[in-house]
Amino acid sequence: MNRLEGKTALVTGAARGLGEAIARRFTEAGARVFINDLNLSAAQETAARLGGYGLAADVSSADSVAAMFAELWKQTDSLDILVNNAGISGLEGMNDIDQRMADMLSHAEKVAAGAPIDSIPGGTDSATDSDWQRMMSVHVDGTFHCSREALKRMYPAKSGNIINMGSIMGTLGRGGGTAYCTAKAAILGFTRALAHEAAPMNVRVNAIAPGWIATDMTDPMEAMHPMLKMQTPLARLGDVDDIAWAAVYLASEEAKFVTGQTLSPNGGWYMSQ
Ligand SMILES: NC(=O)c1ccc[n+]([C@@H]2O[C@H](COP(=O)([O-])OP(=O)(O)OC[C@H]3O[C@@H](n4cnc5c(N)ncnc54)[C@H](O)[C@@H]3O)[C@@H](O)[C@H]2O)c1
Repeated sequence: MNRLEGKTALVTGAARGLGEAIARRFTEAGARVFINDLNLSAAQETAARLGGYGLAADVSSADSVAAMFAELWKQTDSLDILVNNAGISGLEGMNDIDQRMADMLSHAEKVAAGAPIDSIPGGTDSATDSDWQRMMSVHVDGTFHCSREALKRMYPAKSGNIINMGSIMGTLGRGGGTAYCTAKAAILGFTRALAHEAAPMNVRVNAIAPGWIATDMTDPMEAMHPMLKMQTPLARLGDVDDIAWAAVYLASEEAKFVTGQTLSPNGGWYMSQ
């Protein structure tokens, strides 16, 4: 069934992972898909594989996003669907991830056992300004920058659909991850406010809040996977299609009365959001 036949979509951070899976399912559902990522050749490689069009931009930069949309408008007059998916874990480029994971696991065991705690691994007391700001700028500014450019055409067209990538971390606080949790909580707040604003213009805005999904982002946290599976009622990490199908639903006419919502495929981690 071509649920997105004739639609045009832009998915950010789509060279791999959840964004790529969403772009693939959108394409199969009949949409013409534009694939953004930081690196043009990575975006173009994925686009060539899926039959889409690759666009480079760092979503955290307003200028970079404006330039990407200028290129997008050369290829299409309108945009029906924007998926603000680009994101970072904050672990990118770190060469001591295994040690960090081991420290976090041993910390969790100590807390559970009621043992004395001297320090918090990845704690807010040791966070740097630049790490904090990068987390906010990629997730929060990026979602704002791309939404703003898309709405410049969606509002006059009185039609559009925006899907923002949140996380269960946006509602669940998690020690050692305050920046990520704060950024994702902001995205959920932005989603609700924008949904309210955009409804009279027939633009729907929703969020997806994935649980733990197996991607390149969560691979480096492999040491934590057994614990995460144990804490998940469905006893596994999600796969990328668990999220991609949620995006297809929200983007389709089947969700025409759905706006301001957070859909959370999370294996039962949360029983409701
Ligand atoms: N994997 C999970 O368990 C999980 C859970 C909840 C939410 N999420 C969110 O889902 C989204 C995708 O995650 P993923 O697991 O596919 O991660 P991933 O690391 O596999 O893919 C993220 C993609 O975003 C791109 N990107 C990063 N910064 C960018 C920027 N400034 N501009 C443009 N592109 C940028 C990366 O290059 C990469 O291709 C993220 O927003 C993430 O926070 C993931």
